[in-house]
Amino acid sequence: MSVTSDRVVLVLGGAGTVGSGIVKALLDKGFQVAVISRDESRLEKLKQFLPPSAGSRLHTLVGDVGSEDGAEAAKGDLLKRTGKVTDVVSSLGFSWWQGGPPHTQSLQELHRVLDTLLLSTFTAWKAFFPLVKDNPNGSYTFITGGAGERLLMPGTGFLTLGAAGALAFALMVRQEYPEVPCKLNEVSAGREGGRLGAVSRQSGGAQGTFPVAAGREASPEKRGAVRGAGRRGRSLLGNLRFRRQVQASFQLRKSPSEPQAPHGRVLRGAQGAGC
Ligand SMILES: NC(=O)c1ccc[n+]([C@@H]2O[C@H](COP(=O)([O-])OP(=O)(O)OC[C@H]3O[C@@H](n4cnc5c(N)ncnc54)[C@H](OP(=O)(O)O)[C@@H]3O)[C@@H](O)[C@H]2O)c1
Repeated sequence: MSVTSDRVVLVLGGAGTVGSGIVKALLDKGFQVAVISRDESRLEKLKQFLPPSAGSRLHTLVGDVGSEDGAEAAKGDLLKRTGKVTDVVSSLGFSWWQGGPPHTQSLQELHRVLDTLLLSTFTAWKAFFPLVKDNPNGSYTFITGGAGERLLMPGTGFLTLGAAGALAFALMVRQEYPEVPCKLNEVSAGREGGRLGAVSRQSGGAQGTFPVAAGREASPEKRGAVRGAGRRGRSLLGNLRFRRQVQASFQLRKSPSEPQAPHGRVLRGAQGAGC
């Protein structure tokens, strides 16, 4: 059995724009991939987007990871299907929000944005992190957006709040759990020079450049090269590119003996990345 086919990567948000690209990339590389969506029809669309050859290596489930109970239930269903999860990519949220300046918004809308971007990231992590954290070959990767670092344009304030929460959560986890054997990664997709890009902060500590992501529903204006970081062979996210179809290439550490830099180092990468 190959190294990749023995690995089961759960892509949270795998039916979404970014997530579907990641799913395709992982399947192309031979991994088993699991996707949980609240909507069966989105899973069907995902299957149509993927090549038929993905078939038996793709595990899809209907579930809602946006509550602790929902995430636990989804975990139970998933483990019945796959028996294990070796890696998690968390790409929960939504593509865009531009509802207007804060004084025009309601508390209910702020709850909705935070639920989608931040709280689901937490409830999912709480359920699934225990499955991978003690695995020296495992990884947990958070997909974030540059909106978490600044206001991208007028009217996107709530997006900034939600994205900032998700970004802070990813960085906080790395600092709270500096010694966990699994790798903790954070990849921020965003715009730079008019093109969509990504910045990666990885527990491996290395930095480099490679293309990143592309999803099922990526619109033309969202396509572009993506900048990332990481040493080949040491990061989960090795190669993503925003195109109509993802041309991503994921690198997973292949053996426990592979050297690993100290956890907890935060890499600050490209400026100007947007959501
Ligand atoms: N698209 C971009 O241009 C872009 C750029 C930079 C960063 N990002 C970041 O990438 C992440 C994903 O964005 P996206 O564009 O892929 O958004 P998207 O197309 O809306 O996909 C988000 C996914 O999150 C899932 N999700 C949300 N809450 C969930 C829950 N409670 N249970 C299960 N699944 C849940 C949705 O699943 P369902 O199938 O159940 O709806 C959906 O598949 C976000 O954090 C975003 O900030 C996106």
